[in-house]
Amino acid sequence: MKQNNEFPNLPKECTSMLCKHLTKEVFEVLKDKKTANGFTLSDAINSGVENIDSGIGVYAGDEESYTLFSPLFDPIIEEYHGFSPSDKHKSNLNPDDLHAPNPDSEGTYIVSTRIRVGRNVDNMPLGPAISKEQRDQVEASIVEGLKQLEGELKGSYYPLLGMSKEVQEALIKDHFLFKEGDRFLASTGLNRDWPEGRGIYHNNDKTFLVWVNEEDQLRIISMQMGGDIKEVFTRLVSAIKSIETKVAFSYNEHLGYITSCPTNLGTAMRASVHIALPKLSQDMEKFKAITDKHHLQIRGIHGEHSESEGGIYDISNRRRLGVTEVMCVQDMYDGVVELIEVEKSL
Ligand code: ADP
Ligand code: ARG
Repeated sequence: MKQNNEFPNLPKECTSMLCKHLTKEVFEVLKDKKTANGFTLSDAINSGVENIDSGIGVYAGDEESYTLFSPLFDPIIEEYHGFSPSDKHKSNLNPDDLHAPNPDSEGTYIVSTRIRVGRNVDNMPLGPAISKEQRDQVEASIVEGLKQLEGELKGSYYPLLGMSKEVQEALIKDHFLFKEGDRFLASTGLNRDWPEGRGIYHNNDKTFLVWVNEEDQLRIISMQMGGDIKEVFTRLVSAIKSIETKVAFSYNEHLGYITSCPTNLGTAMRASVHIALPKLSQDMEKFKAITDKHHLQIRGIHGEHSESEGGIYDISNRRRLGVTEVMCVQDMYDGVVELIEVEKSL
């Protein structure tokens, strides 16, 4: 692990949360600290230092990183989620509490719906600080648990190691598999030993999928074509509940589920639709005003750091910590209803 005693070179034009919150004072207080897994401040900030165009710029190596480096992480968590150090996280996975009748039953606007949560294995370092042996062990224990799933969740595990380039590229293009070579993840050590220890589990219909050892050790995903958001949520909840009887997840009362990026803490949930908004997207200011009002984020068609194609956008909840899972999906749903109404009126 790295240890750098010099304040990093952060150019003036850098707008990331790292550049905003890493003051010289914070740096001096934290620069010699190291977690039990050997994770240092330099490790936590390296991605944002090497990638000056980061939005956030920091990652945690383990649960302890969030307390040991709290003078840096707390203001970032507060700014991203609106969650203060004295707040407690809340959870609600009850689909009955979600009001989400299909807002587009004719299939004019919503192409597909996807909801994912991130999870990491209890008592293991997170991906940025994990060793190859530990990562392989995590993979083995997750796959062992997944093998026992039944009914709609029954499927197979496909390791990345040995997967043909054609299959891999088709899975990425069709939005099922994570991309390779993300530079933000590479700089925080998350791509070490690639492709070993990584893979994807999915059922026959690819409506239930699990990514293994990408940014988080598990990304549990429910997705399908169209806008039946409640059905997607209900399947996800059933998957989470089944998997947690087989694998213990890293969780605490303050931060909820522990993830390697502070933007994913809490519910670790991102609920999204791919939605066609060809008219509204001509007026980005109007579009952004609606998404901001509902705490939503706009991504491109191939996920984070990608562009839109043909007026189709990925719209998802932005807040994940201090709000329940039902609220995450409700934010997305309410925003999507308004987006469709406005698109229709144009
Ligand atoms: P994550 O969702 O794990 O934060 P990304 O933003 O990179 O990561 O998205 C991962 C993949 O999921 C990408 O291929 C993206 O296009 C796909 N995706 C996201 N939302 C949807 C959706 N509603 N329908 C279909 N694919 C989706
Ligand atoms: N580290 C990247 C940045 O700061 C991504 C942050 C949020 N996304 C994520 N996949 N964790 O821009």
